[in-house]
Amino acid sequence: MEVILRNLFQSLGKSHTAVKLARRYGLKFGASRFVAGESIDTAIRAVRRLNEDGRMATLDHLGEFVSTEEEANESAAMCIQTLEAIAAAKVKSNLSLKLTSLGLDLSKILCMNNMRRILDCAARHGSFVRIDMEDYAHCQTSLDIYHQLREEYDNVGIVIQAYLYRTEQDIEDLNRVNANLRLVKGAYKESPKVAFPAKKDVDDNFLKIIKRHMLNGNYTAVASHDPAIIRETVAFIKENGITNERFEFQMLYGIAEDLQKQLVNEGYRVRVYVPYGIDWFGYFMRRLAERPANVWFVLKNMFK
Ligand code: FDA
Repeated sequence: MEVILRNLFQSLGKSHTAVKLARRYGLKFGASRFVAGESIDTAIRAVRRLNEDGRMATLDHLGEFVSTEEEANESAAMCIQTLEAIAAAKVKSNLSLKLTSLGLDLSKILCMNNMRRILDCAARHGSFVRIDMEDYAHCQTSLDIYHQLREEYDNVGIVIQAYLYRTEQDIEDLNRVNANLRLVKGAYKESPKVAFPAKKDVDDNFLKIIKRHMLNGNYTAVASHDPAIIRETVAFIKENGITNERFEFQMLYGIAEDLQKQLVNEGYRVRVYVPYGIDWFGYFMRRLAERPANVWFVLKNMFK
């Protein structure tokens, strides 16, 4: 049953029709637990609340299925607007984004130019931009773009997924450019030809790359709600004298709030990924696919 639901949510999240319908009807089915709102103002308010109890944020303006140059440029303009709003509100947040929303599928040059505009704006405000990692089909191009941008900018980081077999080698290559990495388990449906199918193997590889990247001495964002992964990371940090300015924990908006606060109370840096915007559907489906138990939460909200 769990596998069926997971596949269903993953397919729905990729459906252009479902995404467009959802856009028309606004945040529904309890999506507001995971998405901070449809406007930048509501998102900034959510960030301010997180900042009040010591949590930092990374804002993501949600955008899916860009199919024209105009849409890609609009999406870049929204990223710039988000950076401007963060600076104007003086909240503690940086920016996360997806390269496909900036035109990656249309042209690499278009995507690079949009990234340069965004990174120039971030640099003017002393801010940082993180490139989310999407499905395997986009992995190599995303890394190529990151390596190219890294030659020009210091304020850019990327995400690496523990479920991919290629990840260990990618970590080594990224170490050569002192990459600031967010490490995650991986959220997309991938073939066993490219990704570990068993959770245990993903978890083992996750811990391996966290330790490797931390020992390499580059900034590491450990993005997970898994208490076992966090426990082992904390033990590793203590054993190896890794200081607070070299790493942070990251979690998603609306998930494991108690754990987020507990880590802040223990003195660790915690950053919450705060998505917002009218294109909430694909993101929401990925969160349901990660944890089909959330479907009961959705059903309850359907009848509210
Ligand atoms: P795991 O899935 O094993 O979950 C551990 C526990 O966390 C669960 O038992 C449950 O209690 C809780 N939990 C996890 N997911 C939940 C959910 N959806 N709802 C409620 N509870 C949940 N992926 C990717 O491919 N590219 C990316 O760029 C990013 N970026 C990113 C940023 C940040 C800040 C985070 C935290 C995660 C991502 N991810 C991601 C998603 C990541 O790959 C992964 O799918 C999720 O974090 C879930 O994995 P966990 O490590 O939490 O462990």
